[in-house]
Amino acid sequence: MIKLDLSYAHVENEFANYQKEVSHYHKQLVDKTGLGNDYVGWYTWPTNYDKTEFEKVKELAKMIRENADTLIVCGIGGSYLGSRAAIEMVQGLFPKRDIDIYFVGNTFSSTYIIQLLEKVKDRNVYVNVISKSGTTTETAMAFRLFKHFLENKYGAEEARKRIIATTDKARGTLKNFATNMGYETLTIPDDIGGRYSVLTSVGLLPIAVAGLDIDAMMKGAFDASVAYASEEIEKNDAYKYAVSRRVLEKQGKNIELFVSYESHLAMLAEWWKQLFGESEGKEDKGLFPASVNFSTDLHSMGQFVQEGSKDLFETLVLIDKPNLDAVFPSDKDDYDQMNYLSGKTLDQVNKSAALGTLQAHHDEGGIPNIILNLEETSAYSFGYLAQFMFIACGMSVYLLGVNPFNQPGVEVYKKNMFRLLGKK
Ligand code: PA5
Repeated sequence: MIKLDLSYAHVENEFANYQKEVSHYHKQLVDKTGLGNDYVGWYTWPTNYDKTEFEKVKELAKMIRENADTLIVCGIGGSYLGSRAAIEMVQGLFPKRDIDIYFVGNTFSSTYIIQLLEKVKDRNVYVNVISKSGTTTETAMAFRLFKHFLENKYGAEEARKRIIATTDKARGTLKNFATNMGYETLTIPDDIGGRYSVLTSVGLLPIAVAGLDIDAMMKGAFDASVAYASEEIEKNDAYKYAVSRRVLEKQGKNIELFVSYESHLAMLAEWWKQLFGESEGKEDKGLFPASVNFSTDLHSMGQFVQEGSKDLFETLVLIDKPNLDAVFPSDKDDYDQMNYLSGKTLDQVNKSAALGTLQAHHDEGGIPNIILNLEETSAYSFGYLAQFMFIACGMSVYLLGVNPFNQPGVEVYKKNMFRLLGKK
């Protein structure tokens, strides 16, 4: 499903030097004895995920699809990026669906929130509020607004039936409130943190409502967990990617630029940025994860990548088989002199742009490239890719010597904001 190509990265001669450390941290991942070991549940999740909860997700998704034309997903960070990334990756940006899915609770932007309330006022709406801690301010604020919206529109009793809360199984304000109100609830496992949670109910309910095959997604994750189980770098592409990042960092590369050539993978890049950025950016360490969408951004950021400062490398995600493709037509007048492309498919042109850019950035720009060739953009491949990234991220961050599963720095802005807002 994923072919890793390191021929443009020039890192492999360093792998042997990392094997001892990789074996050490591999054991910690498997035995759950490393830093942040309370949050390594994602490692075995594709095998031992909660099947009863999984069936409940499917039933709720079916009920929502039958009863509503709009789902509001209220969550931030790991509580929304994964599901949005998966849905867009598989269905594109203009999906043919009977239900629209909107994301809120991920911003304080008054314009965004009010426009969304206005947009759905005449729609048939369900709300899935997602928060592991149950206290995240962006999410709680939007949830209150949408709860009031539902109550005004449908009355308290019907509103109650239209809210599904995905949260911790026992703790937190949202859990207590959902229990008191009698909302349907879904549970986030204790040992899986937000940015590792897309394959739990956090991601699966919105994904299933969108109509993606979540069985196939879990199968993809399971197959990846088998494919990337070896402690040997040479036999484990997730570890090769993990180590490559560290090797490039040692060569003075401080920025990892996630590159794709599909507009509908922009949210996948956002999900990836959170996974790596929040996992490793601590103790004054870490690669800065950034992203571009080519060829769009070749016309804005391409200049910098080609000739700007040399402290970045690219991680290039290429899709072998796009979901849709078409042959570029011929024009009898060739008024735009584009007939040289006639008979080629749109994807052939895209792939030529990718190869030409790779050569330009690597050969002339001196930018190392790690290439991930993904066979397709299906539910199965998303599950596979997600598990690949979790394993790569866990290992890569352990190699950096920090805890991949906490995010203490996120509290600092909150403390200041609460003070400014007079929170007791
Ligand atoms: O990865 C993480 O833990 C965070 O990004 C959280 O997902 C994010 O802050 C949202 O937290 P919560 O689900 O508790 O509202």
